[in-house]
Amino acid sequence: MKKQILIVDDDQRVLDALQRTLRDQADDWAMTFVRKPETAWECLLESAYDAVVTDVKMPGLSGMDLLERIRQTDKTKDVPVVVFTGLDDQNLKTRALDLGATDLLNKPIEASQLIARLRNVLQSKEYQDDLRARNELLTEKIRRQNIDLAQSRMSTVCRLGMAAEFRDEDTGNHVIRVGCFSRAVAAAMGMPRTFLEMLLLAAPLHDIGKIGIPDSVLLKPGPLTDEQWAIMQRHCEIGAQILREQSKAVIPLLDWYAVEPKSMQEATENRDPVLDIAASIAMTHHEKWDGSGYPRGLSGESIPLESRIVAIADVFDALTSNRPYRPARPEDEALTIIEATIGSHFDPRVYAAFVRALPDIRALRNRFNDSVIVFPKPEGVLTEGALV
Ligand SMILES: [Fe+2]
Ligand SMILES: [Fe+2]
Repeated sequence: MKKQILIVDDDQRVLDALQRTLRDQADDWAMTFVRKPETAWECLLESAYDAVVTDVKMPGLSGMDLLERIRQTDKTKDVPVVVFTGLDDQNLKTRALDLGATDLLNKPIEASQLIARLRNVLQSKEYQDDLRARNELLTEKIRRQNIDLAQSRMSTVCRLGMAAEFRDEDTGNHVIRVGCFSRAVAAAMGMPRTFLEMLLLAAPLHDIGKIGIPDSVLLKPGPLTDEQWAIMQRHCEIGAQILREQSKAVIPLLDWYAVEPKSMQEATENRDPVLDIAASIAMTHHEKWDGSGYPRGLSGESIPLESRIVAIADVFDALTSNRPYRPARPEDEALTIIEATIGSHFDPRVYAAFVRALPDIRALRNRFNDSVIVFPKPEGVLTEGALV
């Protein structure tokens, strides 16, 4: 493709001479000759040029003004500009370079010099354009990879959360909704974006510890004995342990997988913040505002905020979803139940945010209702106490 060159000089005789001089380059260069810098500026705004060659002293807009505009406008700021100056005008030369001239040429213009300089600037521009195109491609590739990675992480987390739920109840998209509702509540509290994204990933793992509860307790249809209840409550600690422990088996695996292996200490220090927040939620999502929850009987703000948020999202979704032993409660009934326990079970500030987030929560409940198959249920999953 021919290089587009714009040549500006108010003196028609100079333009004619340049036209004759550059005639031999016509196979490679498409040249536009204009007498007014104003016209040159219009050309630059309309089409893409690979180089501009301009005189300085012209009536109206000067060559310097044109150069300044070119450098200050996004569309044109990278176009190389070659400026003609008088031989002895040192100040003008310095000013032109200060304003971002790519090269200077003395008047009267010598043909071989002009062609050589133009070839140079065109070549540099080509390298620059090439580099920019590669950078843009790379940025787009990284952006795509980041999205793929985030989606894969989300999918893994939700599947893991569902694995725990499958053992217990037929809970459909419960873990997905708890993640989404929690994010909506945190957003209504004005929490930073990174926290929202971490919560979305971590909340679905709140009951992962149920994996470690024996079937005789987890699937028991009737009320639990005190001993069984104590075992059931252990799902919090088991979940936190699964998510928090940097087991001796995991670190060598991470070392082997990483491009630059980490030391044991580094791997422990550079923990994944999503796993940290997930462990905190697994441990404390059954704590209550008044201290009557389990496993530690924490109260008030000593319960991590993420867990106070997940607690309300979890209970609201459980109440408004079908369970094998009861149908879903209507929303107003669920809200009345929750309202009755503000200040005892739930943090009043989190409840206020939950109410503000209700329009979003309703939309999310609709979007991820249990008739929507987000992850197909594996064949042969036994539910409703089938193993008891
Ligand atoms: Fe739980
Ligand atoms: Fe749950």
